[in-house]
Amino acid sequence: MRSSLFSRRTIRQGAISAVGSAKMKLLFGCCMLLTLIMLASRTAAPYGGWNRYDVSPRGSSLPRKGYTLLINTWKRNDLLKKSISHYASCPGLDSIHIVWSEPNPPLKSLIKFLNHAIKVNSKDGRDIELRFDINKEDSLNNRFKEIKDLKSDVVFSIDDDIIFPCATVEFAFSVWQSAPDAMVGFVPRIHWVDKSYNGQAAYIYSGWWSVWWTGTYSMILSKAAFFHKKYLSMYTNEMPSSIREYVTKNRNCEDIAMSFLVANATGAPPIWVKGNIFEIGSSGISSLGGHIERRSECVNHFVGEYRGMPLVPTSVKAVDSHYTWFW
Ligand SMILES: *[C@@H]1O[C@H](CO)[C@@H](O)[C@H](O)[C@H]1NC(C)=O
Repeated sequence: MRSSLFSRRTIRQGAISAVGSAKMKLLFGCCMLLTLIMLASRTAAPYGGWNRYDVSPRGSSLPRKGYTLLINTWKRNDLLKKSISHYASCPGLDSIHIVWSEPNPPLKSLIKFLNHAIKVNSKDGRDIELRFDINKEDSLNNRFKEIKDLKSDVVFSIDDDIIFPCATVEFAFSVWQSAPDAMVGFVPRIHWVDKSYNGQAAYIYSGWWSVWWTGTYSMILSKAAFFHKKYLSMYTNEMPSSIREYVTKNRNCEDIAMSFLVANATGAPPIWVKGNIFEIGSSGISSLGGHIERRSECVNHFVGEYRGMPLVPTSVKAVDSHYTWFW
């Protein structure tokens, strides 16, 4: 490498004045070398390069508390099998709770399959608990029912049709550990004040393009988010029952209701984590017509319930610096 760097001398000779040109070249060479080392270590880092600087808690002797996968499913056992098999391999996973609202209880064959998949895929024989939370009533509020004997302090709430790589999930988990009161997740949404609306402020719910265009968001959807388990109990026991009734009746907006609850409790915005989403199912309710209008109605209804807008907009985005090139 040295010889190839210094052979540039002849090419650059004309451009740099004779005085100090050797220093310049040395500087240039050093820069090149540093860049190469950086690139090499960046590529190697996720696979254990630069182990001397490994400060991950897995290396320490303190037992690390993990998270609970709270997965919402509806008559899509194939998707459920796929996602549970995948998440079982994530190192921080403590337990799996499946929110089951179908009229028939889960089949024995399904339970057997899942238990086997967890055993096969979990790392170093870790014991991952599998639980079905069976609901009699079919309501979207089921997804946020209080779980009394939860092993971990935090749930990773997820839909059955999207998958995130374990590294992404664990990164979001570490972001949550830095801000345990916040909702931390991958799907941001924003609300706007409707300027065309006369009189009282009315709000518009806006989708991904709006977030992308402005870089601003005020909600993180519970289809892929970490939040403290205390919010489950608040949703079930403390949130005004009129909001739960609205969610059941309209079959929509339980995630917006949760965003309002957390924002009202903390007075702070949620945290968006960068991550690649892999969709394994067909498109869901969000692709149906009239979706944005119905979501906006929910926002305005909840603003009425809270007597104001608790959601706080932000443009903070958490990014794993292992995978970024510039700082
Ligand atoms: C919002 O938070 C305040 C303060 O914690 C609480 O008193 C109030 O009941 C909450 N509002 C709703 C609608 O839950």
